Amino acid sequence: MIGIIGAMSIEVDGLLAIMTGRRDRTYCGIRFSRGKIGGTDVVIARSGVGKVMASMCASAMITRFAPSLIINTGVAGAVDPTLKIGDIIVSSGAVQHDFDTSPIDGTPKGWNAELGTVTVQADACSTGVLLRIANEEGISARPGIIASGDSFIADNEKKAELAAVFGASACEMEGAAVAAVAAYNHIPFVILRAISDGADNGAHMDFPAFCKFAADNSIRVLSRAIKELG
Ligand code: ADE
Repeated sequence: MIGIIGAMSIEVDGLLAIMTGRRDRTYCGIRFSRGKIGGTDVVIARSGVGKVMASMCASAMITRFAPSLIINTGVAGAVDPTLKIGDIIVSSGAVQHDFDTSPIDGTPKGWNAELGTVTVQADACSTGVLLRIANEEGISARPGIIASGDSFIADNEKKAELAAVFGASACEMEGAAVAAVAAYNHIPFVILRAISDGADNGAHMDFPAFCKFAADNSIRVLSRAIKELG
């Protein structure tokens, strides 16, 4: 069974629409929809926005459905300035950009002491499949580090910092939390995101204008990839 988590309805509704044999269950206040897409068993949840909701959702999903792979899907802000609206970024790894204990222990920003790393590595095989299918769909796609934190980034300076400190390609608000929960539980994960804005001073205007277009690109790629990933 593949587990799929998106923060917002716009990021998962297109997948729910093509699910067959759907059965819904609610755990921790989150609805989990189980069924098949392209003959593959999947469970899909809308977590809500931010790392707390994403962590709770991933934990409940693992406990209740024991997925063999967890995919976090949706939209992201571009940190790499060469990324364009609608382009796909697939995680090579994920970092929590707002996790910082450096003042008390001198560890690097983003350091996760429990996992002993800054960057949680994504499942390379799944990353490769998603990149190939995005290219086959005619969507520009590349691998990269996805930086997650509990803020919407709409600031040129913060964007530059995410690139300089973490080597991030894109930013969003859930992926690294899903990644950490998956890693703690020894479950492979991958993050698939399409660019909805530039995470820059104009991002608050671009996001509402392009969110649906970007979310649909992620859904298009994922709906085709599920069969292979399963
Ligand atoms: N998701 C989409 N765009 C984002 C941004 N600029 N910051 C955080 N999360 C996002």
